[in-house]
Amino acid sequence: MLYGGAISSSQYEGGFQDKGLDSQDCRPYLVRKDNATVSTRLLTQDVIDRAKDNEGYYPFRKGVEGYYHIDEDIELLKELGIDIYRFSISWSRLYPKGDELEPNQKGIEYYTKVFKKLKEANIKVFLTLNHYAIPLYLIEHYNGWQNRQMITFYQRLVTTIFTNWSEYIDYYVPFNEINAAYFSPYNGIGLIKDQEYDLNKIFQGLHHQFIASALTIKLAKEYKIKAKAGCMVAGFCYYGLTSDPIDQLKALQDEQLHQWFYLDVLAKGYYPNYIKRFFKDNNINIEIKDEDLTLLKDNTCDFISFSYYASNVATNKEAKQTAGNLVVTTKNPYLKASQWGWQIDPVGLRIMLHKIYDRYNLPIFIAENGLGAKDELIDGKVHDEYRIEYLKAHFKEIDECLKDGIDLLGYFLWGVIDIVSAGSCEMTKRYGVIYVDSDNLGNGTYNRYKKDSFYWYQEYIKSKRLQQ
Ligand code: BG6
Repeated sequence: MLYGGAISSSQYEGGFQDKGLDSQDCRPYLVRKDNATVSTRLLTQDVIDRAKDNEGYYPFRKGVEGYYHIDEDIELLKELGIDIYRFSISWSRLYPKGDELEPNQKGIEYYTKVFKKLKEANIKVFLTLNHYAIPLYLIEHYNGWQNRQMITFYQRLVTTIFTNWSEYIDYYVPFNEINAAYFSPYNGIGLIKDQEYDLNKIFQGLHHQFIASALTIKLAKEYKIKAKAGCMVAGFCYYGLTSDPIDQLKALQDEQLHQWFYLDVLAKGYYPNYIKRFFKDNNINIEIKDEDLTLLKDNTCDFISFSYYASNVATNKEAKQTAGNLVVTTKNPYLKASQWGWQIDPVGLRIMLHKIYDRYNLPIFIAENGLGAKDELIDGKVHDEYRIEYLKAHFKEIDECLKDGIDLLGYFLWGVIDIVSAGSCEMTKRYGVIYVDSDNLGNGTYNRYKKDSFYWYQEYIKSKRLQQ
C-alpha cells in the first residue's frame, strides 16, 4: 500500500499572471459565517462580474504560492517520505481561455519541471486531470459542461497531458469528485447560480463529463499509456438517523443519488435503473446518444477513488443540521465534529471501503482524507496533536480493512502542504503536515514549517515500509 499526500492546482499554485482566469479564481474570500463550508461554492453572475473587476480578495489566485516554492516543496515531500503525490493540472494554465488550439508553453514548462522533480525525488504520481477549476471563458461563452463542445476542449487538454507527460504518470482520474456536478454545480460543471436548480442542466453537464472520462480512457488505451485509470467521487457514507426503515431507505437512496450513481456509470459502464426512475420522477430528459452508451460500456475504470473526511446522516424527520464536505447534513449524536462541523468518523471510513469493494470489486485509493483545523505557529513550531490523533484513528481502520482483505492501493493525506480551503476559501482551515505562513487575506511570508504531524507521518510511513 502506498502512502501519499495531495493538493489541487487552484488551491496550491498561485502564479496567476501566467494563466487564464478560471472558475475558482472568481470565488472571493468572505469573512466566515456559521457555515463557511458553503459560503462561496455557488456563484451568481454578479459575483463573477465583480471578480473580473478585481473587487475584493480572491484567494485561489494566490494559492500558497506553490508555483514559486515548488522546488522546496518537493524537497519537503521527499523528506517526509511519501511514496506518491496527487496533484492536478490547471486547465487555464495550459489553455488560458480553454478553446485555443495550442497550449501555453509556460504552462508546459512549469508542469514538466514538476514531473521531473517528482521523478528525481522517487515519488510516484497520481494525477487529477481536472480538479474543479474551469477556464471562465468556457463558462461564459459556452455555458460550461452543459455544452457538449466541452468534451472537445477537454480532450485537447488530455491529449496535451498524455503527449507531454504520460511517462511520469502512474495513476490518473479524469475529474476530481465527479459527483460535485450534483452537490456543487458551479465547482463541478461551471453552472452559474442563477441557472442552478435546473436538474436537466446538471445531469446533462454530468453526462458530458462521463463521456469525457470514457474518451480519456479510450485515448489512454490508444496511446498505450501505462498509467492506471480511475474515477473519483466525494464519499458521503450515509447512516439512517434511526432504525425506522424509512430513515434506512433514505440513507440508501441518498447514497445512490450522491455517490453510487457516478461510480456505477464509470466503473460498471451503464446508467443504473434507480437513476432512470429518479430522472422520470423529476422530469429529467437529457440527451444521451446510442454511441455514448457503447463508449461508457467499453471504457470503464481500473480503480475507484474517493475523498473521505466525515460521514452523513439521512432522515426525513426534523433534526439538527451541521456542515459536511460542501454539503449540509443531519447531526450524528455519536460523533464529534471538527471546528468546521464535519463529523469525524474513522469507522465510517472502514464502512465506506467495504461498501465500495463489495460493490465494485476493484482496487481502491483513498484520494483525500485529513483534518481541517486551526493551527498556531509559535517559534517556528506547530503542535498539532489533534491532527495526529485524527490520522491515527483513521489509519487504525485502514489497517483493519487491509486485514479484511480489501484491495487498497493507497492513501492520500489531503492538503499535505497547507492550501486554501476549497469549501470556504480560507487559509485558516489547514490540513497540512507542512505549515504555510499566510492568512485569509494573503498576508504572510509564505515560508514553510514542519508541524509535529510531519514527523509523526514520516515515522509512520517508515514503520509501514519495514512491515511490507
Ligand atoms: C474535497 C475537495 O471536496 O474536499 C478538495 O476535493 C477540498 O478540493 C477538500 O479542499 C476539503 O474541503 P475544504 O472545504 O475543507 O477545503
